[in-house]
Amino acid sequence: MTSPEKPQADRFPNGSDAFPHKHLLGISGLQPWEILYILDQAEEWVALNRSGASKHDDRLAGLTIINAFFENSTRTLLSFEIAGKRLGADVVNMHAAQSSVKKGETLIDTAVTLNAMRADAIVIRHGSSGAVQLISEKVDCPCLNAGDGQHEHPTQALLDALTIQRRKGPIERLTITICGDVLHSRVARSNIFCLKQLGAEVRVAGPPALLPDALDRFGVETFSNFEEALPGSDVVMMLRLQNERMNGDFIPSPREYFHLYGLEEARLALARPDALVMHPGPMNRGVEIASNVADNLDRSAINEQVEMGVAVRMACLDILTRKARRVEGWS
Ligand code: CP
Repeated sequence: MTSPEKPQADRFPNGSDAFPHKHLLGISGLQPWEILYILDQAEEWVALNRSGASKHDDRLAGLTIINAFFENSTRTLLSFEIAGKRLGADVVNMHAAQSSVKKGETLIDTAVTLNAMRADAIVIRHGSSGAVQLISEKVDCPCLNAGDGQHEHPTQALLDALTIQRRKGPIERLTITICGDVLHSRVARSNIFCLKQLGAEVRVAGPPALLPDALDRFGVETFSNFEEALPGSDVVMMLRLQNERMNGDFIPSPREYFHLYGLEEARLALARPDALVMHPGPMNRGVEIASNVADNLDRSAINEQVEMGVAVRMACLDILTRKARRVEGWS
């Protein structure tokens, strides 16, 4: 993997002067310089978000953003809502549990209905892999994937990359270990794509039953023994056990899982002395991570990940609505 080039001020290595994607469906398909461009833009929103009382920029004024969530969410839904509002957009949330989906309306009919309301961007979370792509083919505006089944969660990977870059510097020099329920994790897939594109060494650890067979294809090293993966790790990213996606028993018991794969202090000591601890949330405390590790602010970036989520989502909404706003070029 060669080092990713940074874009020349306002132009990409491919010669384009506009972001070449209408939608954000996944990290797969994004070039390294496109990822870095989003991170650079998000960095500016971090500064605005930390600026005190006036956290507003009205560049999306007059635009309507619909957050259509067919699965539960705290972080992603609220941060997309805050992101849209800080940029001046009108933001409305559709929770499937209180919508006509409950009366049997199909996904496509729902998408066509949202489209008829002339949304300028639709943010979608859905339990089925590929559902966001399907919706993107039925609507006129940009669609942003807020997590689809076991497929991708691109803004989570982008906010994780921003968090890592801010704490550790360029990602291309880092060794990052991802541990847990990789099989069911869209967060793991998007992070593997993103971190590999940015040149990191990525290690993946977990019980064999929770590691997909095809991981080697993505250029990651796999470990069934978590402790063997940790030495030399700059970042340890823990994943949630996704009980809601498990069909059958994948682990003997939560207690046994913690014994073998839980991140507790003694195990963290095997990684680099300054290794950063991450978790996308929500956490199962005492199952994949010990509370004293999660809450150790010297080591844990979990709250910072949430903060970066707002900035990354502001960047994504800004970039993908430039065509609707007739903004030329990259900014
Ligand atoms: N990390 C994440 O996607 O969290 P939520 O499910 O709360 O959005």
